[in-house]
Amino acid sequence: MNIKDLYIEFFKERKHKQIPSAPVIPENDPSVLFNTAGMQPLIPYLMGQPHPYGTRLVDYQKCIRTNDLDSVGDKTHHTFFEMLGNWSLGDYFKKESLTWSFEFLTQKLHIDPKRLAVTVFAGNDKIEEDKESIAIWQSLGIKEEKIAKTKNDNFWIAGETGPCGPDSEIFYFNSKDEIPEVFDPEDERYVEIWNNVFMQYYKDENGNFSDLPKKNVDTGMGLERITAVLENVDDNYRSSIWQDVIKKIEEITNLDYQNHEKSMRIIADHLRTAVFIAADNSGIKPSNTDQGYILRRLIRRAIRHAKKLNIDINSNWEVEIALVIMNKYAKYYQELVTNKDVVLEVLTNEKIRFNKTLEKGLREFEKITAKLEGNVLNKDLAFKLYDTYGFPIELTQELSQEKNIEVDVEGFKEKFKAHQELSRAGASQKFKGGLAGNSEIETKYHTATHLLNAALKVVVDQNVHQKGSNITSERMRFDFSCDHKLTEEEKKQTEDLVNKWIDEGLDVTVEEMPKEEALKSGAECMFIEKYPDIVTVYSIGDVSKELCGGPHVKSTKEIGHFKIKKEEASSAGVRRIKAVIQDD
Ligand code: ALA
Repeated sequence: MNIKDLYIEFFKERKHKQIPSAPVIPENDPSVLFNTAGMQPLIPYLMGQPHPYGTRLVDYQKCIRTNDLDSVGDKTHHTFFEMLGNWSLGDYFKKESLTWSFEFLTQKLHIDPKRLAVTVFAGNDKIEEDKESIAIWQSLGIKEEKIAKTKNDNFWIAGETGPCGPDSEIFYFNSKDEIPEVFDPEDERYVEIWNNVFMQYYKDENGNFSDLPKKNVDTGMGLERITAVLENVDDNYRSSIWQDVIKKIEEITNLDYQNHEKSMRIIADHLRTAVFIAADNSGIKPSNTDQGYILRRLIRRAIRHAKKLNIDINSNWEVEIALVIMNKYAKYYQELVTNKDVVLEVLTNEKIRFNKTLEKGLREFEKITAKLEGNVLNKDLAFKLYDTYGFPIELTQELSQEKNIEVDVEGFKEKFKAHQELSRAGASQKFKGGLAGNSEIETKYHTATHLLNAALKVVVDQNVHQKGSNITSERMRFDFSCDHKLTEEEKKQTEDLVNKWIDEGLDVTVEEMPKEEALKSGAECMFIEKYPDIVTVYSIGDVSKELCGGPHVKSTKEIGHFKIKKEEASSAGVRRIKAVIQDD
């Protein structure tokens, strides 16, 4: 049995319910571009909302972290990974959590306990030392010298605010050297394999901590890392997770991994992440903002490295590699099967688009840098490479770095902004991967989204279905199935109907029920296979009923005035509405 299955089974035996992996693009959390941890889709439940599956959960979650995108190419970095996680929502706490982690590692994965060491929270002026975890580790046979206390590394929060708490990290000594008597967490021969977070606080915008209604446990173990450890490789890309993809790249290039590690790792990693983004049901396409920009950067960087390996970039190399990736994960992620054609189309179209300018752009880059006085590429040149040749700024940086040239990135960004192309949300806040709670305004947008969905069914066609949704504090975006451009009349009627419902002050109510019953009652939902057996259903008066995690306003009166700003095509058979709500 593989690690993923073993893990799920182990926690199921301990009364955990398996929950499905959430999409890589968060559905109702505009503060992040991607799910970066297993806990992210669970935030409402960690904050106290009852989870329909109960108080013990387990899953494997697709995660994307892009902060280190440009470090991909070395032995350990990747942009996509699977996180194995188990949670207690006000159920068990430190003792069970640490004991089960230890048992899983030593009894199921047969790791020698002598190779394990742990860190615990040393305490600070606000929160005390985690004495309880220390005592539990000792009772499990971990010697005092293998328990390191740290101040900064053992407090976990996904960003600036949100649920958080002290954690205890488990490390593995991954070296042939003799194991040192005393554990030093800075010793690079140790790799962190599992994090157990004891989530008991909520940190607000002012930096104050308050107790969460219930104490939770949030754990995360990176599948890529634990696999590399168990397979005894010091290069993650040599583990079984990557072998078939690397082999395919070797086959296409006729080259050995050993001599071309960097480019091969980049191609393997970036295409894998691109596949998962493109396969997401939200329908993200390469673009110059937000997730679309990350998708574009990944594909374009992969193409550039394919070119470095002399791959004929007009051949269908990207399809061949993507197929290996998709086949491998299809068993676990249904969207790779359903959206296989979409993924291949995204990759190939972006390749064709970039190939048109890549060659010329590279020549231009050579010309520019040959003539350069000093070692700084100025903002105008960087902007020209972006604007005329489609070079993401990070690609220009990478190319420049290889020639010891610096790029005026700040200047570029200013210029970019001046061209009004830098997405408001894309640049700063979201890239940090921070988490913010759903603000009041986002909650209003959330309810307005349900009303819009219902109004389109009345005005346009009862077969209109939601295909995607995205909310920021300034607007909502709603994608829906529809075979034609909405007429002015249809737009006006839809807008009027939503506003009528808002003015009526309809009550928003929530109830939990079995999935089957919810569907029978006509509740709307986007991807039925994603929902658990017991679901949360939000109703608005008798005009809307949807499966949804919330949050929502209590009465539609709170929303304000609804206005459609734009209606446009999103993809074949899918239209997109952008709308805002304004104060009355
Ligand atoms: N949420 C915790 C982490 O990402 C488990 O490390």
